[in-house]
Amino acid sequence: MSALRTPVVDQLGIEHPIFGFAHDITTVAAITNAGGIGVYGATRRFPHEIADELAEIRRLVGDRPFGVDLVLPDGMPEHNSRADIERHIPDEHRAFVAGLIDKYDVPDPSGPGMRTRFIRSAEIESDQLEAVMASDVDLFACGIGAPRPAVERARELGKTTAALIGSPRHVRRALEAGVDIIVAQGYDAGAHTGPIGTFTLIPQIVDAVADGSDGRVPVLAAGGVATGRHIAAALAMGAQGVWLGTTWLTTTEHAAHLHPKLVPKLLAAGSADTVVTRSESGKTFRQIRSAWSDEWDAPDAPEPLRMPYQDVLVGDLLGAIDEHGVEPLLHSGAGQGIGYASELRPVADVMDDLVSEATRAIDGLPGR
Ligand SMILES: Cc1cc2nc3c(=O)[nH]c(=O)nc-3n(C[C@H](O)[C@H](O)[C@H](O)COP(=O)(O)O)c2cc1C
Repeated sequence: MSALRTPVVDQLGIEHPIFGFAHDITTVAAITNAGGIGVYGATRRFPHEIADELAEIRRLVGDRPFGVDLVLPDGMPEHNSRADIERHIPDEHRAFVAGLIDKYDVPDPSGPGMRTRFIRSAEIESDQLEAVMASDVDLFACGIGAPRPAVERARELGKTTAALIGSPRHVRRALEAGVDIIVAQGYDAGAHTGPIGTFTLIPQIVDAVADGSDGRVPVLAAGGVATGRHIAAALAMGAQGVWLGTTWLTTTEHAAHLHPKLVPKLLAAGSADTVVTRSESGKTFRQIRSAWSDEWDAPDAPEPLRMPYQDVLVGDLLGAIDEHGVEPLLHSGAGQGIGYASELRPVADVMDDLVSEATRAIDGLPGR
């Protein structure tokens, strides 16, 4: 039997224990169709869009399983009102953002940016959850925060549930929420990330989850998993599978949706070319280093605001940078594993290489 045939593979009815997070439905479907399980990052999508997009992924994958991910942080405002948030944004921050627009000659966006299409609020989160529950998606993953009622409801509907966590301190809460799978995401990861490195984190979370769940709940390793050797190491650390985000950014399917000027930046970036900054969303967020992160890191820059205030402060500008491909501010969330990507490749080829290299790495271990 293949060394990659861990219990989570049978639990979900997939071929390989490789979970792939992406913001693009074609990429998500390709990951599932290549034998892993694609997970659609839907947190910035309107509820009606989520309903349509999940239905479209189902059409593309047939009976094969796929997932959806929502970020449901505590402490967001009750209502979807931009004006309420705007009132709390200090003048110093507005002036700084206006200065960036001026300095880099950023054209106006044609509409609100990804982070300002709507304001993250309890109201919109509840509607997004409704759309997920009404769909036939197989896996429901919670990015930041796993609210127990949402997890319980998804499980009652027959969906598998997962929570991403970045510290062993969060294990108890995730298990109390009742999730079926825990994703341990280390510091190397792209986008929102915590302070503990992946190698340090995984065994700690594996042990804490085994203790707290009598070994019932599998752990997936996330953050810097970019090759088959990483997968072998993740299994050796006690994970049953892996969860990848950065790897898919440089697939042919995904790159088709990026600004053409961003693609060479991603392919050229090495592992030392990412930084963690709060300037994107208000929470620590790993991205490719650019003039955007440098400007916010400068001694005279204001401290970024908390989420969702920072979202509102910078959302339209980030949208304009992406829409118009404004060098040198153009950037993307990406993890340290970006250093492994030097050319665009189809998802199916990436998946084949991950699986064959992982198998070779495990078979080649001394004593096997
Ligand atoms: C561009 C980008 C955006 C991401 N957005 C989300 C998100 O909205 N929700 C979430 O749970 N995880 C998000 N993640 C994190 C992934 O789910 C995953 O945990 C992470 O990418 C794994 O580490 P890696 O980037 O080293 O592969 C994002 C990752 C990237 C690269």
